[in-house]
Amino acid sequence: MAQIINGKEVSASVKREVAEEAAKLREEKGLKVGLAVVIVGNNQASRVYVNNKKKACEEVGFQSFEYALDENTTQEQLLDLVNVLNRDDRVNGILVQLPLPSHIDEKAVINAISPEKDVDAFHPTNVGHIMIGDHSFLPCTPAGVMRLIESTGTDISGKQCVVVGRSNIVGKPQAMLLLQQNGTVTICHSKTKNLKEICLGADILVVAVGRAKFITGDMVKEGAVVIDVGMDRDENGKLCGDVYFESAEKRAGYITPVPGGVGPMTISMLMKNTLTAAKQQAGITD
Ligand code: GUN
Repeated sequence: MAQIINGKEVSASVKREVAEEAAKLREEKGLKVGLAVVIVGNNQASRVYVNNKKKACEEVGFQSFEYALDENTTQEQLLDLVNVLNRDDRVNGILVQLPLPSHIDEKAVINAISPEKDVDAFHPTNVGHIMIGDHSFLPCTPAGVMRLIESTGTDISGKQCVVVGRSNIVGKPQAMLLLQQNGTVTICHSKTKNLKEICLGADILVVAVGRAKFITGDMVKEGAVVIDVGMDRDENGKLCGDVYFESAEKRAGYITPVPGGVGPMTISMLMKNTLTAAKQQAGITD
């Protein structure tokens, strides 16, 4: 039976570290860390995420600035706001919650965010930095996954790592981060032919496909570290992951639950990136 990786606990320890450093910045340098969160329209899931981000800011002692824009906001209006935030010294990090309404080009908006304030690490400049391994910000979810793997004491070097999913937000950067830790990395996707066989070879299996219970226990290697990035609903409308937890936990060595696994990590890593942004903007290099 697998050991459950407690994402809430690991996330709380990241937030404690961030809060301590933020307090030090305030006391020693008079610096207040600020995050601007922009939400456009009425997507319910986005609303929940944005509220959680605001709450996390309060917990770690950051200022948060929320911009809740109408569904009919034009792309030009949104770009104007991003430009204002790029110049606002109180704002160290800018997060535009995705998805945006379909009449707005997400790429254009991401590209408009100053890379120094791009705490999601979605801007092509930051994506490039991740590719060559000299990054300032790591994308929040993959960075959170790395922290969870680290919490198990697993050394990634030389291990077979399989990432299921190739999104720009999770799968691709996840593969890069595992590679930087000297993992031997395979990326699987919807066209992969022998998925079960490849997954069965994984010492570390990270799943981010957005399909409920897609990875079943018979696809998990005995003793593997299984990280489930999914946030899905099962046939009864209950929250579940991309991994069929009940069967996978019988084979895995370590496994994340949904909820309470990767989810809490994404927000704490966002706090960490915002702190890093504030320090960099203030010329603090430690
Ligand atoms: N929507 C879902 N996840 C994310 C995220 O990590 N960042 C942003 N900006 N939008 C999201």
